[in-house]
Amino acid sequence: MNIKRLVDLDLKGKRVFIRSDLNVPIQNGKITSPKRILASIPTIEFALQKGASVMVTSHLGRPEEEKYSSDDSLKPVVDFLKSHLKYPVHLVSDWVNSSFDIAPGQLTVLENCRFNMGEKKNDEALAKKYASLTDIFVMDAFGTAHRKEASTYGIAEYAETACAGILFVAELEALEKALLEPSRPMIAIVGGSKVSSKLSILDTLSDKVDQLIVGGGIANTFIKAMGFEVGSSMYEEDLVPAARKIIDKLEKRGASLPLISDVVCGKKFDAKEVAVTKNIKDVHKDDMIFDLGQNSVDEIVKCIHNAKTIIWNGPIGVFEFDQFAKGTETMTHAIANSEAFSLAGGGDTIAAIEKFNVAKDISYISTAGGAFLEFAEGKKLPAIEILERRF
Ligand code: 3PG
Repeated sequence: MNIKRLVDLDLKGKRVFIRSDLNVPIQNGKITSPKRILASIPTIEFALQKGASVMVTSHLGRPEEEKYSSDDSLKPVVDFLKSHLKYPVHLVSDWVNSSFDIAPGQLTVLENCRFNMGEKKNDEALAKKYASLTDIFVMDAFGTAHRKEASTYGIAEYAETACAGILFVAELEALEKALLEPSRPMIAIVGGSKVSSKLSILDTLSDKVDQLIVGGGIANTFIKAMGFEVGSSMYEEDLVPAARKIIDKLEKRGASLPLISDVVCGKKFDAKEVAVTKNIKDVHKDDMIFDLGQNSVDEIVKCIHNAKTIIWNGPIGVFEFDQFAKGTETMTHAIANSEAFSLAGGGDTIAAIEKFNVAKDISYISTAGGAFLEFAEGKKLPAIEILERRF
């Protein structure tokens, strides 16, 4: 990793500007999952402990630029930081057009950077303005590393020093370990609803993995491509040939997509719907597939058991409904009990990890969603590119 690291720099008396990803879910002014803030605190605390004057900013949601909305304010995040840090914390609203004070050992939170005109388009003047506020720019927002914005990219071009924070380095090391230098056998589990949103990652992974496991709505398109019926289940007809190509590519490489031999069906998407397990050959035209059956899950568990690297993105069934949660639950516990290096990422994956209470048994849980997928697709993330260039 050719990137300067925060932990190697002398911070005493320096102005340090941290770009974190504090984009957390908030309902009625209350943070419903503070994970990203908790993951960002070590970098903030490190800079404060070393005697720097620390500023931190983040985006929250996708507000319109130059239009303040209290719903997108970082105010709840500031309250959370106040209760978790032993340093004074204050919020500055207009930090681009007016001056403000910073002091060593104090945290200044700079209001949602997406309120600033030019942030999203990486406006050069805005990026230079950000850079002028600091001696050291710290990129710690791995969840936003795929965005080329003024606070994630432009500032890194113009700041005197640009480096990566503790979280950013940890994320990058985990993703590189799992995706670029994997111990083998390497397996990937890709679930979720649509092949279209994950086609690129499925295609990239099919060149690398020893086994590719598909679940959720994605599996239905692959079941079709294997020549079986999926009844009234959601699937993407136009992508059946792409799914077939992926299966063929895996087979040609001596890799595989484990056989789906049975599924759990219902007639409608409903919390009270009765679950019926069926052989894959017996799916009727009014059936909807909501989970994989025991035999199919046993095949997946075997793959997990043999794997040395596991990449996991997405559940394999409708695990929100208990009667369709068995497949995801069994698979989640198998991953947790495995000795392999397991890397999990993406919103629904984390919801499954929480539901089945296995967080401590997963080797690394990424805070990133889109950035995780783009990295796994083999794309160069802009924030990594600029930090490498500044190295
Ligand atoms: C995320 O939630 O995935 C990141 O915070 C990035 O947010 P964005 O998609 O609004 O850029």
